[in-house]
Formats: sequence, C-alpha cells, structure tokens
Amino acid sequence: MSPTLNILSLTKVYPNTSIAAVDNIDLQINKGEFFGLLGPNGAGKTTTISMLSSLLKPTSGNISIGGLEITENVEKVRKLIGVVPQDIALFPQLTATENLKFFGRMYGMRSSILNNRINELLNIFGLKQKKNQLVETYSGGMKRRLNLIAGILHTPDILFLDEPTVGIDVQSRNVIMDYLTALKNNGMTLVYTSHHMEEAEKFCSSIAIIDMGKIICRGHPKKLINEHTHCSSLEDIFLEKTGKRLRD
Ligand SMILES: Nc1ncnc2c1ncn2[C@@H]1O[C@H](COP(=O)(O)OP(=O)(O)OP(=O)(O)O)[C@@H](O)[C@H]1O
Ligand SMILES: [Mg+2]
Repeated sequence: MSPTLNILSLTKVYPNTSIAAVDNIDLQINKGEFFGLLGPNGAGKTTTISMLSSLLKPTSGNISIGGLEITENVEKVRKLIGVVPQDIALFPQLTATENLKFFGRMYGMRSSILNNRINELLNIFGLKQKKNQLVETYSGGMKRRLNLIAGILHTPDILFLDEPTVGIDVQSRNVIMDYLTALKNNGMTLVYTSHHMEEAEKFCSSIAIIDMGKIICRGHPKKLINEHTHCSSLEDIFLEKTGKRLRD
C-alpha cells in the first residue's frame, strides 16, 4: 500500500534557536492507520504535527499527503485534513453552535449539511443540551469534546490530533477514543500525539517515539512489546528509550 503521508528528512529550527526542535525525521503513515506520535514534554510532537498539517513551515524536508507535496498544494491539502490543536481553539464568548457554524463555513460546508452534522456530533459527544451555552461556561472536558468536533465537522481524509485527551476524565476520554476508533474503522487516517502510553497501546495501529526532535523507535505497539522481551508495556519501552530525566 502506498503511504498516505510521506515525510522525508523533516527538520524545524525555530528562529533565534540553535537546536532543531524536529531533527531530520522520516515517517510513512498508511491510509486507515491510527498513528501515535509519542514523546515527553518538548520532544517535538506539536512542532511535527503543525508542519504535517501545513500550519508551520519546515526549515527543510519534504511532506506529501496522498502524493501532493504540501507546501506546493496548501489549498488542496487543507481540504483533505482536519486539525484538533493541543491548545483549545474556540471562541469563548460564542455558543457551541455558533462556534461550529463558524468552523463549518470556514470548511465551505453548505448550511443544511452543516446543521445536520452539528446536531449529530453534539449528540454523540453529549453536548446537545448545552449547545446554546457560551463556551466560556463549559468544563474542561466539554471544551475538549467541542474542540474535537470542530476538527472533524467536514469528515476529513486525514485527522491530526494534538493531545486530544489531555486533562479530561475517563468518561470524556472513552467517548473521544471510541469515536476516533470508529472513524479509523471507516477508513480515516488518524495521526495523534499523546503522553498516555496505555491509551496509545490500546488504540494505535502504529506508533513512533520522538525525543529531542528525533524518532527513536517505531512500530506496532504489540509487536514492539514482544520484541522487547524485558518490557511488558509500551510505557516500559517509552521509559527505556527516553530515560527518566525531567523535561521542560
Ligand atoms: N515558537 C517557538 N520558538 C522557539 N522554540 C520553540 C517554539 N515552539 C516550540 N519550541 C521548542 O521546540 C521544542 C519542541 O516543542 P514542541 O512544542 O514541539 O514539543 P511537544 O513534544 O509538543 O511538547 P509538549 O508535550 O509539552 O506539548 C521545545 O524545546 C520547545 O521549547
Ligand atoms: Mg505539544
């Protein structure tokens, strides 16, 4: 199968810094994969996902999505992808419905389709009753769920999610991960970042561990655990590869 996402020698050095935040990484992600990019704080996850989703310009390297080189095809690529950012990207002084209408129009969705989709997703994520409340009155878990809905309204081919389950309770986590699994089963390609090893072990079909901007391990979680005979979980492998030093 040809990869949906092909990443070659991808590097990012931020202005006025000397160390690469992402250092010459190569990755191939196939269609229908639930791919986990895992790493400690400051490893380069957000920098990588921002470049993959065409929000941040690489210093060097090449990214293609479905054969399209992304910097040369930004408009086309943006129609194929959805992005769920690490920092909640919602308007706090608008209601949930108003927020979603804004994002839907930005994706160019027709009103009738958009309104049905908004109702469907608010229902699935347990926000229907609160759809006319201002987002500033929402709990953290409700904001995370709404942030996710904003990224999937237009049913993208590839969905990038940067720590979609950070700081939320088990109930919200389950609703989100079960829904993401259903999207994967329908053929969507998912690229997500997380610190949560148990979650990644359970849901990802493929993972890569990134540390200090470099990919240091990749593969199918269960196969990796089998290969590392002294490790009984992905967390063991993660600690072995990344060490116990605290990060910024
Ligand atoms: N705008 C920026 N300017 C300079 N350095 C940056 C900038 N954004 C990130 N960095 C640095 O790049 C490195 C990678 O950061 P990045 O946010 O990609 O890590 P991360 O893996 O997403 O971390 P976290 O788990 O904390 O979200 C860090 O050393 C960070 O300090
Ligand atoms: Mg990050």
